[in-house]
Amino acid sequence: MNFKNVGIVGLGSYVPERIVTNFDLEKMVDTSDEWIKSRTGIEERRFAAEDQATSDLAVEASKKALEKAGLTAEDIDFIILATGTPDYLIQSTACIVQEKLGAKNAAAFDLNAACSGFVYALTMGTALIKSNMYKRVLVIGTEVLSRVVDMQDRNTCVLFGDGAAAAVLAEVEPGYGIISQYLGAEGEDQETLRVPAGGTKKPITPEVLEERSNFLKMKGPEVFKFAVKALPKATISAMESGNVSVEDISMVFPHQANLRIIEAASKRIGIPVEKFYMNLNKFGNTSSASIGLALGEALDKGLVKKGDVIALTGFGAGLTYGSMIIKWAY
Ligand code: ACO
Repeated sequence: MNFKNVGIVGLGSYVPERIVTNFDLEKMVDTSDEWIKSRTGIEERRFAAEDQATSDLAVEASKKALEKAGLTAEDIDFIILATGTPDYLIQSTACIVQEKLGAKNAAAFDLNAACSGFVYALTMGTALIKSNMYKRVLVIGTEVLSRVVDMQDRNTCVLFGDGAAAAVLAEVEPGYGIISQYLGAEGEDQETLRVPAGGTKKPITPEVLEERSNFLKMKGPEVFKFAVKALPKATISAMESGNVSVEDISMVFPHQANLRIIEAASKRIGIPVEKFYMNLNKFGNTSSASIGLALGEALDKGLVKKGDVIALTGFGAGLTYGSMIIKWAY
């Protein structure tokens, strides 16, 4: 069986207008610009407007991706939307986006792999096209984390922001497109990184609201330790299965969680940190949107050109991790 060459043929991103700086956060919790910058590299992030939900950010990013691909919403036959912050618990955000875009020929579903979501969704979309089941898949990573982060908890509220990125996957010319990928999971039932209440395990009650367990809880140092191992493991495994060397990689687009995690991963992978594209100073950690937001910015700056071999690599709640190697097709 001849598998198709599949690549990204259009990419778009969107961030809400409202900028929240470290200095703004100093007024809300006991923190400082100096602490946040030195521990994470983050200077500011975007928060969605009151009337914006996760689907609204996704629609803006998707319109740009479709325009870049030279396609209309009706050309899309599948939508995979990665998010940990859906509009609703039941009814997928993907279906809401399908309706808002007018993508009436598309099947649609959500995928939750937290911050690895974009890489997971790209992998699923690639498989659908390679196997000849679908032709054009819209992959979206979108989050409104500002609604699930506890603005009274300095351990988490300084880290996250809102945003969306979307990529159109389709067949590309031979020799280009997605070369290889690696996905992993280390499921666990510890409160390392989760929103403890609001699901079926612990529905919302007055007690839940009192203890604020409807907001994100994170054991930061444990996530840090996991991340500095998971990012190299995912990237090196994807490079190995694609027969790609560190010298072949022109740029890496890591999940934008923490500058120190990226520096440590760069050393372990053996790719200089200058090749790791970072914009976390402006947007913080936007979970499933972050890799696409970084890639979109680099594309707009002309930093990724046809034939460049790039790596996308992420880690997140679950715990999950994943990486994808792409020979850029346009
Ligand atoms: N301002 C000031 N002080 C703070 C803040 C803050 N915002 N947050 C924590 N501190 C304090 C702590 O209370 C602690 O004080 P103590 O020593 O008196 O107890 C001190 O700073 C040091 O805290 P540490 O947790 O040891 O700091 P660390 O250097 O590990 O940095 C951080 C914390 C930034 C959270 C880091 O551990 C990290 O980045 N972890 C990974 C987090 C991550 O990537 N999460 C996203 C995953 S994505 C997803 O799936 C949603």
